Amino acid sequence: MRVLVLGSGGREHAICDGLKRSAEVTELFCSPGNPGIAKIAKCVTLSGEGEDIADFAEKNNIDLVMVGPEAPLVKGVTDAVRARGIAAFGPSGKAAQLEGSKDFAKKFMVENNIPTAKYMSFTSAEPALEYVRSEYAAGREVVVKADGLAAGKGVIVAANQQEAEEAVRECFSGAFGSAGSMVVIEELLIGEEASILALTDGENILPLASSQDHKRLLDGDKGPNTGGMGAYSPAPVVTDALMERVQKEVLENFLKGLKKSGLFYRGIIYAGIMATKEGPKVLEFNVRFGDPETQAVLPRLKSSLFDTLMKTAQGKVGELDLKWDERVAVSVVLASGGYPGTVEKGFEITGMDAAEDAGCRVYHAGTVVKDGKIVNSGGRVLAVTAFGKDVPEAIASAYNGVEKISWKDMQYRKDIAQKAVNRNK
Ligand code: AMP
Ligand code: GLY
Repeated sequence: MRVLVLGSGGREHAICDGLKRSAEVTELFCSPGNPGIAKIAKCVTLSGEGEDIADFAEKNNIDLVMVGPEAPLVKGVTDAVRARGIAAFGPSGKAAQLEGSKDFAKKFMVENNIPTAKYMSFTSAEPALEYVRSEYAAGREVVVKADGLAAGKGVIVAANQQEAEEAVRECFSGAFGSAGSMVVIEELLIGEEASILALTDGENILPLASSQDHKRLLDGDKGPNTGGMGAYSPAPVVTDALMERVQKEVLENFLKGLKKSGLFYRGIIYAGIMATKEGPKVLEFNVRFGDPETQAVLPRLKSSLFDTLMKTAQGKVGELDLKWDERVAVSVVLASGGYPGTVEKGFEITGMDAAEDAGCRVYHAGTVVKDGKIVNSGGRVLAVTAFGKDVPEAIASAYNGVEKISWKDMQYRKDIAQKAVNRNK
């Protein structure tokens, strides 16, 4: 089978790795890919327009197009591919609005009884600021979200009223581009977060192994929000009791909502969950695999990833029976100095082979080859994943690999998966 993967992050590297290990796959393409992916797939550069991708797929007899990131999904790339009779993994462009617009997602949740934070949407600053003031006057705290895709950076969890007001002004000032023309303000939820990824074809919904991301830049969940600084799987915060509620209140209602709204969906739905005292509440929906959750979850999948993705794309999720490695996987993200702000690029990265020799998987994200050397080229640069029979062992193996890698100003969190250790005590 011939597969085309779209994307260039650590998530796509982990997806390509899983596909490469699937016996069915004879040829693997990735656009645009990265230097890590280039070792296992043929990297090509396609324009990102649906028709160009469909043309390439047709000419190269591609059996499955797997879309990694949200941007091409929101553009409707899967619609263009499916129109040529080629299987595609990912929701329709219309359904991708569940991630593309926070306002659309919140309306969908409310309409379908999916538990989520109370919210209001605004298209201008003054009424938004008034709402913020009235919430604080009533003793409630808020989170400010720019509506639209802002690479995980358009969400400000305000520490106080002043910060919330500043965030509103920042959003409307155009700091997040077109993602700031509408602002969603929602109630601050308290609890521990978990990521629930589930395959769906609109008829069935099948959760993958649980995981937990670390959104904040610094140890102890301090500092600004990022795209994600590390993940582990499984996440003990997702107890059987919590998962039962997620199944019933979130996933089943999600499926009903798709049907009711006539949204075509064959791909993965990622529900960012806050485990609050009242039960699970959805922080956000993403219409694609999580990054870096994928780098912790997929290495644990023992079933063929190709079969898993293809059956989903063909509407056969009901036939899947996924098998998981019992071991724990921990994935630590290595980021450039300055991330999530402006980063300095072009520093040589060393030690990646040594980390792999020590048993880690090193997934590339923001790397490029310059003068024959691999250098950093973005915010999040690598994700280092390792297994262990338990959480402490997986942590030790992952950090053993991390410590072998370096480049100028590299930064990473030292406490990935520590919450699981504390919980298991
Ligand atoms: P989002 O992109 O909407 O998931 O927001 C990114 C991160 O901001 C989440 O993973 C949470 O850590 C945090 N966050 C978002 N919404 C809330 C909320 N209502 N209460 C508390 N934290 C939140
Ligand atoms: N890890 C967060 C995300 O993929 O959105």
